[in-house]
Amino acid sequence: LVTVGDETYRPEFHYSPEENWMNDPNGMVYYKGEYHLFYQYNPNATVWGPMHWGHAVSTDLVNWNELPIALYPDDLGNIFSGSIVVDKNNTAGFKTGSESPLVAIFTHQNPLNNEQTQSLAYSNDRGRTWVKYQNNPVLVNNDIVDFRDPKVSWHQETQKWVMVVAAGDEILFYSSPNLIDWEYKQGFGIDLGAHGGVWECPDLFKIKDENGQEKWALLVSINPGGPNGGSGTQYFLGDFDGEIFTTTQESTLWLDYGTDNYAGVTWSNEPNNRNLFMGWMSNWSYAQNVPTYSYRSAMTFPRTLHWQKNNGKSIIVSKLPTEMIYAIGGKVVENNNAGSRFELLNDETLGEGKFYLETTIDFSAINEAKIEWGNKSSSVVIKYNKIKGELILNRAESGYKFNNLNSNILKCPYVLPDSNQLKINMLVDKSSMEIFLNDGERVITALVFPLAPFKNLEITANEEIQFIEQIKINKLSK
Ligand code: FRU
Repeated sequence: LVTVGDETYRPEFHYSPEENWMNDPNGMVYYKGEYHLFYQYNPNATVWGPMHWGHAVSTDLVNWNELPIALYPDDLGNIFSGSIVVDKNNTAGFKTGSESPLVAIFTHQNPLNNEQTQSLAYSNDRGRTWVKYQNNPVLVNNDIVDFRDPKVSWHQETQKWVMVVAAGDEILFYSSPNLIDWEYKQGFGIDLGAHGGVWECPDLFKIKDENGQEKWALLVSINPGGPNGGSGTQYFLGDFDGEIFTTTQESTLWLDYGTDNYAGVTWSNEPNNRNLFMGWMSNWSYAQNVPTYSYRSAMTFPRTLHWQKNNGKSIIVSKLPTEMIYAIGGKVVENNNAGSRFELLNDETLGEGKFYLETTIDFSAINEAKIEWGNKSSSVVIKYNKIKGELILNRAESGYKFNNLNSNILKCPYVLPDSNQLKINMLVDKSSMEIFLNDGERVITALVFPLAPFKNLEITANEEIQFIEQIKINKLSK
């Protein structure tokens, strides 16, 4: 089978498995100089199947080294999503040598009856080999079928482990002194947020604003029922005392308005105390059909999450670790005050599909601006309309048609700040676009599969008037 896909679409700066199927990032943990990424993996096909934990490590989050599969299915079932902690105080008693044990807390899914329980595995050699705990499972809940994706963290103030785990369409909170004995504390969210589908892959962490003030964030992935159909990730900002999470938030807030950022969570034991996030860059509505045939799916580029107050309302902003972008970027175009239109035609750099665009658009004298990236026959169009307060990404004519029709035109509500300025940062890597508005106040992550290289880029507005304040395009290469 010869296709345009495969290596043409494989991203260079995003993790993708050498072959076969990947979904959620799992057990992301930093330990002794290595960022570990585990993930839902089917080593036997390019579609979902009996789940294993695949494994890769990186020292810089850009170059990844794929390692042997970490966790295989066993008598209790397949290995669904979960997390890893560094058990520095050996609270679980798994330590055998000089390294701190890494303890994985994951869901066992029994393929016969779909029963889901929480189990442990540990590694005493920096994540290279894993032993399943002999008394698995450690947590059973017979009241609910969908009971999965435990995310565990250490709560410093109460000196206890805290687990958030999805149960139907709420999140359950548990705490434990030793990762083995878990005590139920709270159910959260049944009457809050979006409920168009089942809740999955929660994450709970402290988050700071620019003055260092602290709040707690709870991420909840939901499928279907995302903001543009299918999978999406919502969040709640509130307070947490080690047992109970509370919020005064009334509206539903989305971490990403694109279709392709799902099941994302943050790294455990991050050395710089960042809320470093990564998601699965696909959507359950079409993930198993996208035109790559030897491998399927990549992860998003890592992002750092911050708390910000906008007109008195608290939101999470997502930022690209830009130092990483510059490390892989060589400048090809710089054009300050680009004026009333910008055009780059038949450009080889664009055609390689690996670039980073930064532009600031002034909407004082215009209502609508448009960025179009494509070739003679197809393109992706990003349009922002100030009056509607909305950004639209149209990938219906981008070559590949996504089989969920709602997923071809993505909408993202966004009202401009008083400055009337819209700063757009866009990271393009072969088959993905990650678009950040005004330093991450909104993010739109979307896949596109051009049938021929997109070599043209145009920025235009509804008036022939100076509106582009600045534009810069960086070519990216490793
Ligand atoms: C989310 C999810 C998780 C589950 C895993 C199975 O994408 O459905 O809830 O643990 O995928 O692969």
